[in-house]
Amino acid sequence: MFMTSLKQALGKIFKAETMTASKNIIGPMNHVGIAVPSIVEAIKPYQEIFGITDITEPKALPAQGVSYAFVNLPTGQVELIEPYGESSPIHKFLQKNPKGAQHHVCFEVEDIHEAKAFVEANGATVLNEPRIGAHGTLVIFIHPKNFTGTLIELMETPKH
Ligand code: CO
Repeated sequence: MFMTSLKQALGKIFKAETMTASKNIIGPMNHVGIAVPSIVEAIKPYQEIFGITDITEPKALPAQGVSYAFVNLPTGQVELIEPYGESSPIHKFLQKNPKGAQHHVCFEVEDIHEAKAFVEANGATVLNEPRIGAHGTLVIFIHPKNFTGTLIELMETPKH
């Protein structure tokens, strides 16, 4: 009798764990963000060394204090970001890395609010409330301390 109820209890626990594990919160990798002092200069090696022609025009995103351009690749993008305005959040990063450096990695999620609650429940520090990012969908950033020094961006998959 005891064994039966123990088995039932364990069964319930394992079922709950499997359900959590089987739900993929994190989708495809979308882009690698690289902070640079000049997008126009940073685009050049992608064109001249790799011969890539599919690169978007630089655009300003004043709300986030950056300008950006995407180098389009078959499986994702390189996002080049340059400071926009005096209070750009990447000024400090570029002071430490004057020639530019990898700044963040971005993964897609279906629902940003669900993803935020999920990673926070797992102990992550989310740096901002969901806001519109360079792809026109909601994004959040996770503190680098949670990922051995790497800033992580989560973005809702664009629906087109
Ligand atoms: Co990004």
